[in-house]
Amino acid sequence: MKSQRVKSMLSAAVVIGTMASAHAEDVEVLHWWTSGGEAAALNVLKDDLAGQGIGWQDMPVAGGGGGNAMTVLRARVTSGTPPTAVQMLGFDIQDWAAEEVVANLNGVADAEGWNAVVPDALQQFSTYDGKWVSAPVNVHSTNWIWANKKLLKEVGAKQPETWEELIVTLDKLKAAGYIPLAHGGQPWQDATIFDSVVLTTGGIDFYKKAMIDLDPEALGSDTMVKIFDRMSQLRDYVDKNFPGRDWNLASALVIEDKAGMQIMGDWAKGEFLKAGKVPNEDFACFRMPGTQGMVTFNADQFVMFDVGDSKAQQAMAKAIMSPEFQSAFNVVKGSVPARTDVSNEAFDACGKKGMADLAEANKNGTLVGSMAHGHAAPAAVKNAVYDVVTNHFNGGMNSKQATKALVSAVQDAQ
Ligand code: BGC
Repeated sequence: MKSQRVKSMLSAAVVIGTMASAHAEDVEVLHWWTSGGEAAALNVLKDDLAGQGIGWQDMPVAGGGGGNAMTVLRARVTSGTPPTAVQMLGFDIQDWAAEEVVANLNGVADAEGWNAVVPDALQQFSTYDGKWVSAPVNVHSTNWIWANKKLLKEVGAKQPETWEELIVTLDKLKAAGYIPLAHGGQPWQDATIFDSVVLTTGGIDFYKKAMIDLDPEALGSDTMVKIFDRMSQLRDYVDKNFPGRDWNLASALVIEDKAGMQIMGDWAKGEFLKAGKVPNEDFACFRMPGTQGMVTFNADQFVMFDVGDSKAQQAMAKAIMSPEFQSAFNVVKGSVPARTDVSNEAFDACGKKGMADLAEANKNGTLVGSMAHGHAAPAAVKNAVYDVVTNHFNGGMNSKQATKALVSAVQDAQ
């Protein structure tokens, strides 16, 4: 009896020992890639790591812009058990690096020559105090429209080139009984549309002044009143079920021929591809009218937290930055590579356009960080902008009141 107990204790110890060593080769990854297209892209990473014998512990927290994920992360770090790697955007990376809880990736970054291939616009977020703290996976941008080609044809609308033409197209869709604009009423989605409306209404210099420099004069200007007026205009084209709807369900409305278009970042393309839709045949991808040549970007990066010496963590960072992975992942995700030396060969027409637009904007000084997705200002300011934009979009105040509120909210948040 006794020996039986000892035996089972011993075998339990062996199992625990095996688990512990398997665990050492795992990465625990906190992310918000929970839609079909996002999950498909994430599988490219999981499979890549599995091929190297690295296990994956999934920690998904839904919500574009990463607000929810950042709340969960705070709790984990506070309790002293940070995940291995965390999907993160722009200024959040800098904030976490300042707390001295992130790993130093200079070893792998130097060995792999990251400095030479990652654009400065990204490096300014990936490095802190001379140290690489994150591996950039992609570059997305928010000033895109995803349109159903069949419906546009049916209602006799062409691809809009100006704001006025956009409104004409939306009116035609409305008259034909379709949902003109597929949208989900969540603050980050309202703010994603706002990025595009600021850019098309004010132009690049205004965007920089208002969204990046947070200049009170620009924030409180007549141009901003006009921007809010245009947000109200768009509000007239969403369906009554829009409140709270997830972004991928809004994409599904366009995919399923129920809605004409969605103003959304290029992660939306991942949903169309997942549904078997073909760019330029089933759906069109074009920049918000009036913003061709300009790009409001956001880059997903995996920030590596300080979890002690972890081979799996280093391997993950290296895998993310390999040119082959950057191509394979971004083809599925809808984004474009975070390295400048990846061929566009494997990308579809929208991906090729995304890569060309990014290179052109980078060259011309028209590449700006997305406010909605954490690349224009730190989280406190971003959240203040979310609040005002959403309140106004839902009729809580008029455009003049919203403009005034924006000035003070942004000021208070700094
Ligand atoms: C991220 C994308 C993601 C989207 C919706 C954005 O903030 O950068 O990778 O697909 O949110 O979840």
